[in-house]
Amino acid sequence: MIVAGSSKHALEGPSTPPPSKKACLPVSPESPEQWSRQQMNSVLTKQTHATAGQLGALFKNKIVNAAVYPLKKFEHMNDLVATSRDWRTFCNPARVAILMFNTDPKHQMSGSFKMASIGESNPALFKDPKNFDICVKQTFYVSKGFKIGGSTVPANIAHDARAQAKSLTMEVRCLAWGHVLLYMVYTFIRRFIREHGEPPFPIPQMRFVEACLASQQEVAGAQQDLFLIEERIHPDVEGKFRKYINNGAAIPTAFRNAEDQERAQFLAFTQHVQYWKTTKTVFVGDYQGGNTLLTDPQIMSSPEFMAAGHHLFADGNVATGFESFEIDHVCNKFCQFFQLRTDYNNWNVEDDASGGFTKAMSISVGI
Ligand SMILES: Nc1ncnc2c1ncn2[C@@H]1O[C@H](COP(=O)(O)OP(=O)(O)O)[C@@H](O)[C@H]1O
Ligand SMILES: [Mg+2]
Ligand SMILES: [Zn+2]
Repeated sequence: MIVAGSSKHALEGPSTPPPSKKACLPVSPESPEQWSRQQMNSVLTKQTHATAGQLGALFKNKIVNAAVYPLKKFEHMNDLVATSRDWRTFCNPARVAILMFNTDPKHQMSGSFKMASIGESNPALFKDPKNFDICVKQTFYVSKGFKIGGSTVPANIAHDARAQAKSLTMEVRCLAWGHVLLYMVYTFIRRFIREHGEPPFPIPQMRFVEACLASQQEVAGAQQDLFLIEERIHPDVEGKFRKYINNGAAIPTAFRNAEDQERAQFLAFTQHVQYWKTTKTVFVGDYQGGNTLLTDPQIMSSPEFMAAGHHLFADGNVATGFESFEIDHVCNKFCQFFQLRTDYNNWNVEDDASGGFTKAMSISVGI
């Protein structure tokens, strides 16, 4: 007789073997078996409280929820024709991002106008979706000083949001022009090589960083802030940050390092191409950055376009830096190979040398 409840058991086939009793050990790394008292002493005696300064590092990372406005893709002068004094003509609509960056003054870098911190974003903001590195910039002034332990230490203080907005939107405008004016040179090079063949030397591959404006989400009681976010020019990949050409004069820095010297000469050549192809109206000044990535350009423009009271581009667009181009610029092997013209006085403002840029220029710099 089959008893209710026991039927399932009675009908089952051969059961699966019971699990092995032998415990599975966690995988641990190989290491010496014995540690001497001396070795242990050197490890153990360090296990004490961190110093005040070290503890302070816990509080140096700032996290910002931000609306991020990416700089549009600017490649050709025609892309600039649609821009105006409105910063929104340079940026795509906002995305959400979280930014984290180190505000420790010891890790901060600064020029004469902007301070820069290194950090990360989520999501990644630029070309490589796996690269979260960012460089966060704000304009600043140097305070007379804070009292720390009896001595007065000067500090970099960010300008308020209104001032940041004015300066950082101009930075974005200059970056867009930097992109276009550098691409213009590579387009010229490509066309020339198609007709005349390859040069006997390599052409440095350089570009301006991608960038975004980031406005901090309002935090109760705190002032809203604005930042310029750029691709990080990482020293491990790009080498030490360096200035290739200043804005005051179109004279490249002399480098001892042969590759830097080559890059500086190449960038001087790009200025000559830009000056020519825009019919003596504009070129990039203040070339700086790493081996391939550039940032913080000044756009140097002919003072004739500055209507009274309307300074074009950033404050570094100094008239003398533009006006002395023909005296300052010394042609190099790049200029010679690519047959750049130096008969500056014969460049007719409306002739073909403009490559059709003259009209676009006057539209896009109009106010
Ligand atoms: N994209 C970047 N990645 C890493 N470091 C940067 C980047 N841009 C600038 N820096 C560092 O920050 C400093 C200040 O930035 P910069 O834009 O050149 O300001 P300024 O307008 O004062 O010249 C630079 O001298 C450089 O050391
Ligand atoms: Mg700079
Ligand atoms: Zn030249």
